[in-house]
Amino acid sequence: MAIVRVALDSRSYDIVIEQGVLDRAGSHLAPHARKGRLVVVTDRHVAAAQLPRLEASLRGAGVAVEPVILPPGEQTKSWRHLEELLDALLALEIERGDHVVALGGGVIGDLVGFAASILKRGCHFIQVPTTLLAQVDSSVGGKTAINSKAGKNLVGSFYQPSLVLIDPSTLDTLPARETRAGYAEVVKYGLIDDPDFFAWCEAKGHDLLAGDAQAREYAIERSVAAKAAIVADDERETSGRRALLNLGHTFGHALEADTGFSDLLLHGEGVAAGMALAFRYSARLGLCPAEDAERVTTHLKAVGLPHDLAGAHVKADGAALVAHMLHDKKMAAGTLPFLLARGIGRTFLSKDVVLDDVAAFLDEEQAAA
Ligand code: NAD
Ligand code: GLY
Repeated sequence: MAIVRVALDSRSYDIVIEQGVLDRAGSHLAPHARKGRLVVVTDRHVAAAQLPRLEASLRGAGVAVEPVILPPGEQTKSWRHLEELLDALLALEIERGDHVVALGGGVIGDLVGFAASILKRGCHFIQVPTTLLAQVDSSVGGKTAINSKAGKNLVGSFYQPSLVLIDPSTLDTLPARETRAGYAEVVKYGLIDDPDFFAWCEAKGHDLLAGDAQAREYAIERSVAAKAAIVADDERETSGRRALLNLGHTFGHALEADTGFSDLLLHGEGVAAGMALAFRYSARLGLCPAEDAERVTTHLKAVGLPHDLAGAHVKADGAALVAHMLHDKKMAAGTLPFLLARGIGRTFLSKDVVLDDVAAFLDEEQAAA
């Protein structure tokens, strides 16, 4: 078992990572069950695959379970399902001192976190992430959100959970494509500031994706330790350090937008192609050695993640993709901060990027695709 602490004064919390911990969740969660009861919010897929394990463990610890089961998919991060969830929690008489458990991927985690942040002006919540993306990224750090007509994640809050309980064995039932997409976020930590971890990914990424328990646990622990340190330093993304976690996301967002935020390109797949583009663009600007950009592309290719526009199913030209970027919420005062790299593990935030040049680069990428 590994425990990583997110140090945020009175909002500090532990991330517990342990193979099989879902079957022992009762002992971790019972202290948070006021009146011997916990509401567990999940989606239909996770309810079928993992909820029985959590329920059995909670019941074994003398905790009654009230499940709230929502539809799976990104569309659940919506006003409609937020309202449905809040109404369900109010009907279950959740009080400010209560904890609500989010069992699922980033969709359930983001929605439940947001609901918890506004229910009766704030109740507590616990993350039990069941996708690799949620285990290494979204369950940690307190970003919560729903989508609106104007775009993804535009309505939300910073609201930290009380505990994150990660059981890598829940990935046994996750579709392989989802695990691979989540793996892009693992690679991201190496590329940001940890070249040794990127080298570990090159050596062991295949093992992790094949279900090797040790590789999974190691990658999750190292990823959340990196994220916990960044969040403790820059919880609300004000100093620029937390923004590094968006490596690959500006390009990736444009690719996701062009493919209609559909199953054609999962979020992690967009991030993978986006990271490859960010490294190749950095190399084109003479900032990053071409060999480093090549290493990134080679690794993503080796594990079956998209690394170019064709692999991302994107046919749009550079100008259209840049137009998508301009709709991204990260645009500050008319400029588009861009994450570029001076090499593997040397990502930095640039405010000098010329968008016409990005469009020309993407046209070259499209021509080469
Ligand atoms: P998801 O929650 O939609 O889960 C993917 C699919 O896998 C769903 O169909 C789900 O039902 C299913 N599933 C989940 N766990 C399973 C399991 N163990 N077994 C079988 N099926 C399982 O997607 P995701 O990739 O986890 O999350 C994507 C969301 O995360 C996006 O909305 C994104 O905006 C958000 N996100 C948030 C942050 C943050 O910091 N808050 C960071 C990154 C991404
Ligand atoms: N996933 C980006 C962040 O948490 O800031």
